[in-house]
Amino acid sequence: MKTILAINGSASRDSSNLRLLLYFAERTSDRLHTIIEEDLKVFPPFDPALSAEDPPASIIALRERIANADGILICTPEYVFSIPSCLKNILEWCVATTLFSGKPTAVITASASGVKGHEELQMILRTVEAGLQDETNLLVHGIRGKINDHGLITDALLKTEIDLLADNFLKRLNI
Ligand SMILES: Cc1cc2nc3c(=O)[nH]c(=O)nc-3n(C[C@H](O)[C@H](O)[C@H](O)COP(=O)(O)O)c2cc1C
Repeated sequence: MKTILAINGSASRDSSNLRLLLYFAERTSDRLHTIIEEDLKVFPPFDPALSAEDPPASIIALRERIANADGILICTPEYVFSIPSCLKNILEWCVATTLFSGKPTAVITASASGVKGHEELQMILRTVEAGLQDETNLLVHGIRGKINDHGLITDALLKTEIDLLADNFLKRLNI
């Protein structure tokens, strides 16, 4: 079975982006193994010298998970009109590598608005030559109002949008 690495960009403990990733993982579990990178706060701040010569063990392990994955799914909110610093941090640790080059990469920005962060994330991912496609790219406004207190998606359109993204991503992965 193919594997994807699903990265949650939120720094929040009760993350709606994580809920979307869990929904995606459950929806595709019969055809795809999803490893969820749940908490990016565990990674140390980027250090260019260490990145090239002696990366921390946690970064080596993260790079291996990216390298071994057949695809990447990033699901993130926008923070202060940008991507969250913990997500930017792991992308900085990877920017001098070819880990993302040609790797099928799906992007969901789920936020209050999210417009700027969504654009910025795609610009960064294009820089690392990630394999982006419009069919696996989703911007969700007002995410907090679309998930209930039990973490369930209550918005029917959002479910349909994630189902479609999942179908398109599976096709992209030749599944
Ligand atoms: C520090 C901080 C800054 C934020 N800035 C923005 C912003 O610029 N644009 C936006 O759409 N939402 C912003 N939000 C709201 C998030 O979109 C909202 O908290 C969202 O639910 C986060 O997703 P999560 O539940 O996965 O953490 C911000 C939230 C925080 C904590």
